Amino acid sequence: MKQLLILYHSQSGSTEAFARAAASGAKEFDIKVKLRRAMAANLEDIQACDAVLFATPENFGTLAGGMKDFFDRTYYPALDLQLNCAYGVLVSAGNDGRGAVSQLERIVSGYPMRQVAAPVILRGGASNGTLEQARELGQTLAAGLELGIF
Ligand SMILES: Cc1cc2nc3c(=O)[nH]c(=O)nc-3n(C[C@H](O)[C@H](O)[C@H](O)COP(=O)(O)O)c2cc1C
Repeated sequence: MKQLLILYHSQSGSTEAFARAAASGAKEFDIKVKLRRAMAANLEDIQACDAVLFATPENFGTLAGGMKDFFDRTYYPALDLQLNCAYGVLVSAGNDGRGAVSQLERIVSGYPMRQVAAPVILRGGASNGTLEQARELGQTLAAGLELGIF
C-alpha cells in the first residue's frame, strides 16, 4: 500500500491543526498515512514513503526553524539516495507565507523531490475555511497515490 508522510512543525498549534486536517482528508483513500513532527523525524521516514506533505509556519520571512532542522539533518545523506519522491507544501502564515514556500521549494529541489500539487498558503490560523483547504490538499495527494499517478 502506498504511504503518505505528513511532516510538520508547529509552535503555537495552527500548522499542527492543518497537518491533522490534511491527514484526515488523506485517510479517506486507500493509502497509509503517517503524521510526524519534523524535529522527531529522520531520513528513514522519507525513504519509507511515496509522497510527503511538508507543513510549516513561515517565520521571519522564511521556513520556520523546526522544519529547517529536518532539512539540515537529512540533506547530505539524502543526496546519495536520489529519492525523487512526490511532495506538496502547506505554509501557515500571519500575512505572507511566500518566503517559506520559495525557500522550501529551493531546498527540496536538491534532494531531489517532485512537486505534485500547487503550494497552499493558509493565513490567519485555523478556521473552518483554512482547515478545509488543508483537508483538500491531503485528499489531492492521497488520490494521486491511490491512482498511481505519482
Ligand atoms: C517568530 C515569528 C515570526 C513570524 N514571522 C512571520 C512572517 O515572516 N510572515 C508571516 O506571514 N507570518 C509570520 N509569523 C506568523 C506565523 O507564521 C503564524 O502565526 C503561523 O500560523 C504559526 O504557526 P503555528 O501556530 O503552527 O506555530 C511569525 C510568527 C512568529 C512566532
